[in-house]
Amino acid sequence: MINGLNVSIEKKGVEKVFNNEVAKKWDEKAEYVTYYGIKNPITEEVLSNARNGIKIADIGCGTGKILQKLDNKYLGCNLTGLDISNDMISVAQTRNFSGKNNITLVNNDFMEYDFKDYYDIIIFSYVLHHMDNPIAALKKAKEMLTENGKILFSVPGKKYLSEVFNDDKSIGRFSIEEMDDIVSSAGLYPLKSSRDRFMMSFNSYEMFLKYLQSIGTYQKIMGYSNQSWPTEFSNEILKRFDSTSFITGEYLTYNCENLEKKLRRK
Ligand SMILES: C[S@@+](CC[C@H](N)C(=O)[O-])C[C@H]1O[C@@H](n2cnc3c(N)ncnc32)[C@H](O)[C@@H]1O
Repeated sequence: MINGLNVSIEKKGVEKVFNNEVAKKWDEKAEYVTYYGIKNPITEEVLSNARNGIKIADIGCGTGKILQKLDNKYLGCNLTGLDISNDMISVAQTRNFSGKNNITLVNNDFMEYDFKDYYDIIIFSYVLHHMDNPIAALKKAKEMLTENGKILFSVPGKKYLSEVFNDDKSIGRFSIEEMDDIVSSAGLYPLKSSRDRFMMSFNSYEMFLKYLQSIGTYQKIMGYSNQSWPTEFSNEILKRFDSTSFITGEYLTYNCENLEKKLRRK
């Protein structure tokens, strides 16, 4: 069953990047690139931690890919997909869910979404680097967890696209040390963390450009200004791109618990 709930909110910035054009192509990104290695560690982490009958929230669920995978594998779960972008959530609404789980799709800013002691698992799959304050987001998620609840997330690591972009802050990449600090500042305990590197190859400059456009790279670097992608920016990328070399991908993946609750249980 799908309960579509559309809350009308003013577009702030990030939802301008994840617009109709990006949403339509989001699930096609893999067509532009050949991957070598583990490219999506968060999916495995989510699927191995879930079980039948639990409550799971996928924050920044995008087009609902992870929800679909959970729905295919488990039953009797309450699955909530929440995204600030109406265009992304609209694509999620077109998915065929099995009917074996209760699925709710919510169009809202996570920072305005309130639940207490409710979810067994909260997921942020490539979302925290798009948020103004990842510590505040993790703190908020922590308050929504049940006693043994877990937060599972993945973010780009320092080496992600490093052959082409050097400015870590604007593109949103984290070192393990930075992410460990963020996790501990949010009052979380990392049960597990991993750094997965993979390689990507692109047959042509055009394919690489399509890949970057599909993930809203220019808008991310420009602070979600929603300016259209200028030719000068493409030319700059062309100078740095070599189709015979690999481009590095890297994700940091964490599985965390509420530190205070963990200490209390000790
Ligand atoms: C890089 S996409 C990842 C989509 C999906 N999780 C996936 O793995 O394919 C980031 C998503 O986070 C959403 N997002 C960013 N900030 C958000 C916020 N404050 N509240 C809810 N969703 C947010 C964006 O709209 C976008 O759909």
